[in-house]
Amino acid sequence: MKDKVTIHTLKRQKQIGPKICMVTAYDATFARIFDDAGADVLLVGDSLGMVVQGHASTLPVTMDQMVYHSQAVSRAARRAHVVGDMPFMSYQVSAEEAVRNAGRLVSEGGVHAVKLEGGAEFADTIRRITRASIPVMGHIGLTPQSVHKMGGYVVQGREEQAATKMLEDAIALEQAGCYALVLEGIPLDLAAQITAQLSIPTIGIGAGVGCDGQVLVCYDLLGMNPDFKPKFVKRYANLYGNIRDAAEAFFNEVRGGQFPDEAHSFKSTQTIRLVASNPRPEPAPERAEEKVGGVYGVPV
Ligand code: KIV
Repeated sequence: MKDKVTIHTLKRQKQIGPKICMVTAYDATFARIFDDAGADVLLVGDSLGMVVQGHASTLPVTMDQMVYHSQAVSRAARRAHVVGDMPFMSYQVSAEEAVRNAGRLVSEGGVHAVKLEGGAEFADTIRRITRASIPVMGHIGLTPQSVHKMGGYVVQGREEQAATKMLEDAIALEQAGCYALVLEGIPLDLAAQITAQLSIPTIGIGAGVGCDGQVLVCYDLLGMNPDFKPKFVKRYANLYGNIRDAAEAFFNEVRGGQFPDEAHSFKSTQTIRLVASNPRPEPAPERAEEKVGGVYGVPV
């Protein structure tokens, strides 16, 4: 097995390459596949709230759920560095809670580092978490936990003032101790300038080619949702089609009696003659049904 990826490997990749490849994973099966395929980083993203749980945002995701999914991914990762997302309200209330929750992701979830969204306003929190020996990956730009503050999922930092603020945030996060930074949904020239100013690696999503690495949500790159095709996503497969075709083939064979065939069935080693000893129960006497007239005060 190749050497495990650590925060030092990622720093070296910024300096001499190759580009960092990060992908989200939420369970052991996908984690195993991406690890075998050569992922440098597996992110247990709170995007699971949308792609796994079916919510409209990442906001309902809880710490217990992040721990559960982190455990599954960590068990399967052999080479990749595993990062666990800190969900909404797990680090915003106080630095103490942030340290405790980051600690849970590491000690219970088995991740190597945590990621949290936000700029300079979280510098103190990041200092506190790193002081507890937990590496922190920052995340600025389009930060999905701030969907209501942003007024939707919109590209950030297009104007000079906002772009300057983003560069200042990036520098503040590096100074606070972040070992890497996700840049999401920002113009490619801004991402390239931030990347050039920092000594920690940047990992882009919808932030152009000038970052030190790239990340995509695994269900997006695999083409699992035919209705979701934002500009920044490239589909490398059509798993929606493949999975649907396979499921339809299975259902057709079950309905047509072709599955299971002999090759997929077991045989007895002897001819067995069974004597039935399962007398059929007497049919229950007919009972007239009586309507109770509704429950819990709902009028019927
Ligand atoms: O939650 C997530 O999957 C993420 C990535 C898209 C960066 O934060």
